[in-house]
Amino acid sequence: MKNIGILTAGGDSPGLNSAIRGIGKAALKMDMQVLGFRDGFRGLVENRFIRLDKTVLPGLLTVGGTVLGTSRDKPHRMVIGGKTLDMTDAAVETYRKHNLDALICMGGGGTQKNAFRLLQKGLNILTLPKTIDNDVALTDVTFGFDTSLGIATEAIDRLHSTAHSHHRIIVVEIMGHNAGWLALGAGIAGGADVILIPEIPYDVEKIAPAIRRRVSSGRPFSIVAVAEGARNLAENKQFAKANEAKKKARTKAEKKAAALHLDDVENQHKGSTLRLAQKLEELTSLETRLTILGHLQRGGTPSAADRLLTTQLGTACARLIQEGQFGVMVAIRGGQTLPIPLEEVVGKRKIVPLDHPWIESARLVNTSLGD
Ligand code: F6P
Repeated sequence: MKNIGILTAGGDSPGLNSAIRGIGKAALKMDMQVLGFRDGFRGLVENRFIRLDKTVLPGLLTVGGTVLGTSRDKPHRMVIGGKTLDMTDAAVETYRKHNLDALICMGGGGTQKNAFRLLQKGLNILTLPKTIDNDVALTDVTFGFDTSLGIATEAIDRLHSTAHSHHRIIVVEIMGHNAGWLALGAGIAGGADVILIPEIPYDVEKIAPAIRRRVSSGRPFSIVAVAEGARNLAENKQFAKANEAKKKARTKAEKKAAALHLDDVENQHKGSTLRLAQKLEELTSLETRLTILGHLQRGGTPSAADRLLTTQLGTACARLIQEGQFGVMVAIRGGQTLPIPLEEVVGKRKIVPLDHPWIESARLVNTSLGD
């Protein structure tokens, strides 16, 4: 009989519970025993777990969040009693103590990296790609994305009627720090007039005339969908410079200084959507309001597509364990599940390519992308 562990790490995402259910039910059917570690890698380090058996798994399919809890803790840099410590050995010890045959880590880019570190310590690791940002490399899609896309699209639909009634601009901030999938997808699906994403630095002097043209053509309202990581030209220049300096840093001191500077640049970016809204009001003379969707986008029951995806990924994951295949992320490609070596996944990010069909479509329906 095999013993397997599951943990959910990083920001929560709709579909985590249905993925746990998919893995758990298939694993029980294959005569495995399943443990769930609490609060991401912290629960693994601290050996806090629950048994995922027939009493826990049913009913999880439709429930938002994660029954296991999650955190952004990393085993190699964990804050314990106010100190940052390397707790990798403790994580390995828990794995050994429970005689685990495999550990499944569900998460986004950061989780893939942390899981890879444990793989390098000799643990049998598998991962599942989860994030509403859809930015994990080498999978067509990540789970959580479809649900959040639906929520953000519905929000834009609702903002339309109030923007229209008041002849206002409504700027809506959508999650996505580094990748614009969610803002672009929801912006197109919701018919936003302007969509701003991190991949395309924007120029407010080009957005305002686009909005004014709408006013002259009898449409005195506009919806501006902005990814939280979208930057104007000046911000983008500063960000690119800080990023480059971080990449070039060689010594420990240089690396620390460059990382601090990048943090500074990111902090300065906070509030930039509000500044954009104020600038648009000034340039267009249209009353402008800002809506930040925030964590609403991550809450609640997963969509049908996410339930299907997580059930497919979760059950495929149990099958791979049964076959003795480890060190992989279970990806979805063209509708099929595919084990991708973790080393190929880590350190990469899937951002929106500038030649993506969504970008061309947005432009062809007269949406300004701010460039
Ligand atoms: O990684 C998913 C995500 O929702 C991002 O879109 C967002 O920038 C971030 O998490 C927010 O993180 P937190 O919930 O820790 O504030």
